Amino acid sequence: MKLNIIGVSLAFTSLAGTALAGAVYTLNDNIVGEGFYSSFNFEAIPDPTNGRVTYVDQPTAQMLNLTYATGNTFIMRADDTTVLTPSGPGRNSVRIRSNRQYTQHVVVFDMQHMPEGCGTWPAVWETNESNWPAGGEVDIVEGVNNVEPNQSTLHTSPNCSMPASTAQSGTTATTNCDTSVNGNSGCGVRLTEDYNSFGPGFNSVNGGWYAMERTTSSIKVWFWERDDRSAPFDATSGAWTIDTNLWGTPAADFPNTYCDLASHFDANNIIINLTFCGDWAGNAAVYAASGCPSDCVSYVDNNPTAFTNAYFQFSSINVYT
Ligand SMILES: *[C@@H]1O[C@H](CO)[C@@H](O)[C@H](O)[C@H]1NC(C)=O
Ligand SMILES: *[C@@H]1O[C@H](CO)[C@@H](O)[C@H](O)[C@H]1NC(C)=O
Ligand SMILES: *[C@@H]1O[C@H](CO)[C@@H](O)[C@H](O)[C@H]1NC(C)=O
Ligand SMILES: *[C@@H]1O[C@H](CO)[C@@H](O)[C@H](O)[C@H]1NC(C)=O
Ligand SMILES: *[C@@H]1O[C@H](CO)[C@@H](O)[C@H](O)[C@H]1NC(C)=O
Repeated sequence: MKLNIIGVSLAFTSLAGTALAGAVYTLNDNIVGEGFYSSFNFEAIPDPTNGRVTYVDQPTAQMLNLTYATGNTFIMRADDTTVLTPSGPGRNSVRIRSNRQYTQHVVVFDMQHMPEGCGTWPAVWETNESNWPAGGEVDIVEGVNNVEPNQSTLHTSPNCSMPASTAQSGTTATTNCDTSVNGNSGCGVRLTEDYNSFGPGFNSVNGGWYAMERTTSSIKVWFWERDDRSAPFDATSGAWTIDTNLWGTPAADFPNTYCDLASHFDANNIIINLTFCGDWAGNAAVYAASGCPSDCVSYVDNNPTAFTNAYFQFSSINVYT
């Protein structure tokens, strides 16, 4: 849903002009409930990361109730009733991509729930699929099998890396963002300050807000859990204007010190997907280390009810420019 807020944005333009450049933004897209259907395209494509998944199209998702919208909620889930045949297709799930693309912007995800369970690999991220990796990739929320790393990561073309230490509460895990080195691990920051930033912990507190700001001088990610009193009111209330200067230290900070962000990132879409197993979650060592039973693919095939909580629930996605 695109808000018709022309009068309001005009009223705030002069306000924005008086504040610090690049820090004050105006609401551009307010995506709520049924608005997810008009703002996102369902991508019924093979999972490029070899997951045990079948991404379905929108009519199928709605028919199977894998997506469900009310006036103020959007739910996106995986199938939790079907036992799969080993030689047959993977578990039905959903992958959505925003119709709009964004360059410099702030996006705030108000999420009540994220997919949890052994074998799950949920992701909320941005990229330009037709120009990857040259157009850049920002993984805002990503993790596997309920466990660490609760990580935000950039993936780019060559000549982009991050300093070992930056103004962030998280911990830098890897510094070279170049997809062609280190098995495409990217440059990642683990969210360490908040232990409810992912999986069951996140869901136990009714989730919270993830926000990402992208400018040509930095890319920053913040996370506030639902009852965090330090969460900025403009971010959590869906205000018409926000001021990221007042949001405090981000969980992850990717500055342009050793990376020309302007040339490594072009217009990106928001993508939200849930796959199973695949290159990361299903990696035998990663899967075993998470304490999950059996092997990933057999577990996903044989235990549909294990995925009753494998769903995203969004109150809103707000994009500011
Ligand atoms: C579809 O899913 C929603 C959300 O989980 C649930 O409230 C609703 O009852 C489901 N509808 C059907 C027909 O199962
Ligand atoms: C990003 O993707 C869109 C198509 O989705 C394309 O039109 C645009 O040119 C891409 N950007 C670049 C620099 O390729
Ligand atoms: C990641 O999230 C899980 C679940 O909430 C938590 O147990 C773990 O400590 C978190 N890890 C980090 C590094 O924040
Ligand atoms: C690498 O990036 C730096 C800026 O971060 C730039 O000055 C330099 O020219 C780039 N080198 C190449 C080979 O593109
Ligand atoms: C979503 O798809 C992208 C590739 O297009 C992949 O990099 C990412 O890991 C996938 N994640 C999930 C959860 O499917």
